[in-house]
Amino acid sequence: MLEISNLSVSYGAIHAIHNVSLKVNRGEIVSLIGANGAGKTTILRTISGLKKADEGEIRFEQTDLRKTEPSKIIRLKLAHVPEGRHIFPQMTVEENLEMGAFADQKDMSATMEDVYNRFSRLKERKRQLAGTLSGGEQQMLAVGRALMAKPKMILMDEPSMGLSPLLVKEIFSIIKEVNQNGITILLVEQNAKMALSISNRAYVMETGKISMEGNAGELLKDVRVKKAYLGQ
Ligand SMILES: Nc1ncnc2c1ncn2[C@@H]1O[C@H](COP(=O)(O)OP(=O)(O)O)[C@@H](O)[C@H]1O
Ligand SMILES: [Mg+2]
Repeated sequence: MLEISNLSVSYGAIHAIHNVSLKVNRGEIVSLIGANGAGKTTILRTISGLKKADEGEIRFEQTDLRKTEPSKIIRLKLAHVPEGRHIFPQMTVEENLEMGAFADQKDMSATMEDVYNRFSRLKERKRQLAGTLSGGEQQMLAVGRALMAKPKMILMDEPSMGLSPLLVKEIFSIIKEVNQNGITILLVEQNAKMALSISNRAYVMETGKISMEGNAGELLKDVRVKKAYLGQ
């Protein structure tokens, strides 16, 4: 569904991504794990067109994403939940959800009902200003807003960041449920253990390169992964 080949990305003189290749098949949860600064966010931002690549190819279904404007990329039903959530704090929960839909979307209220059915906490707080939500609720709102565009695939950047252990569990179970509803997911996480436990496959990144890849269950058991990312 998504295929990246030989991607290189830089910020001026800093080479953030070197020759990265990865793919996500329809229906999968694939995680991209690795330490802070490894280049995970840069990959997601480059897929969404927010950052320009130097070299390589990014294909989503039939489309060459490097030649596609960010506003057109979301129209392809490829959504992005950015690092740090980026909800609109001065707008209500409902207004934030509306921002996720397309202006010409005909079934917006039905889609919003679906989102509220999945996240009852958002429904209870629909008139509340988003900035007054707890961290976990803001993360749910960010996922809910992505769902408003009825995506085929979601790129998620560190959804568990800053959440308590209980909410981390909850957000991962939401991700799993979203996937079971037919949405393919590319998940970036520093919480390698949780990410691997819900993923089909994973890639490990180290300083801009893929250092390991494979079946998530096998990576969970791998001695090098255990040592470097699972604290075991
Ligand atoms: N806007 C930027 N300007 C310059 N360097 C950046 C910028 N964003 C990220 N970088 C650098 O690119 C590298 C990868 O960063 P990032 O993709 O954010 O990593 P991760 O998400 O894995 O923590 C880091 O060395 C980081 O300092
Ligand atoms: Mg990041």
